[in-house]
Amino acid sequence: MPNTTEQQLEKVRGKRDLSVFDFLSIDDLSIRDIELILELAEIFKKAGTEEIELLEGVTIINAFYENSTRTRLSFELAGKHLEATVANITASTSSVKKGESLLDTVETLSALQAKIIVMRTAEAGAQAFVARHVPSSIVNAGDGWHEHPTQAMLDAKTMLDHHGSMKGKVLTIVGDILHSRVFGSLFRIAKKLGAKVRVSCPRTFVPAEVETLGVEVITDLSKALDGAHVVYALRVQEERGAGGFIPSLKDYSGAYAITKERLAIARKDAILMHPGPVIRDIDVASDLVTHPQSRILTQVENGLAVRKAIIWLLAKRMDGKIKPFTLK
Ligand code: NCD
Repeated sequence: MPNTTEQQLEKVRGKRDLSVFDFLSIDDLSIRDIELILELAEIFKKAGTEEIELLEGVTIINAFYENSTRTRLSFELAGKHLEATVANITASTSSVKKGESLLDTVETLSALQAKIIVMRTAEAGAQAFVARHVPSSIVNAGDGWHEHPTQAMLDAKTMLDHHGSMKGKVLTIVGDILHSRVFGSLFRIAKKLGAKVRVSCPRTFVPAEVETLGVEVITDLSKALDGAHVVYALRVQEERGAGGFIPSLKDYSGAYAITKERLAIARKDAILMHPGPVIRDIDVASDLVTHPQSRILTQVENGLAVRKAIIWLLAKRMDGKIKPFTLK
């Protein structure tokens, strides 16, 4: 039995690598990739804040062009716990403000030998575009309304840790589905894990053609909650103009806020999740945030662990392969 955390990680990992060089979308990941990340994340979670010398000499740059608390901190702490050199840039302090293009900025970060660049942008697809032109591994920490794949990984861990398997289980997602990149990655991973995905929200928050992606739309919240194994609440994204889609936040929360009474409609063993930031009494009743069925803080804890697994796998490949890229 290996004793140190590092030995356990190396034993469990074996010679396994991710099938991808960049972490852009849940669509790119195989079930094996998902399993590998989750197996390693469990060991990282048990190790807590222990410093493990896995990424010494590796530079990671967090480039966040949109606000963030937990995702940015989580990546920063993940890198530091693995002894990487971690630096951060934000939109307000970067040369993008002076008119430099995003690709020129990212090429600069790459020239500074950043092995991994973690990016959050307001534009969908920006990470996928720059990833084609730099040797650094690009991690999508949220691209516009599109995807947030590391969030989906921590959500998968949270759901699987509670329910064991998500095959045939019902995931009900409630809230501003239309503007949510969390939804974009969550339904994709839930479908890969074999779950049944329902969304419940006002009609105006339903993305066009969402049913064609295998998602059931049930606008009546009570019906959507009936039989749910996971109740996942999303914030109304006012900064994306969501206010124009509903009469008022009060009307919205009257019909869709998750309250104790509404949570009781779901299965007895259901868990309540939310990616944060929670707007208390609008998305979720205040008294539910720390309720025994709530996993909101567990999600944050799992975020640190899955991000450690992802950055380790991207930074240190066992097959020694170098990411292919083309200069623009
Ligand atoms: C989400 C985001 O920014 O996409 N938050 C997060 O990363 N945990 C969701 C949100 O802002 O509502």
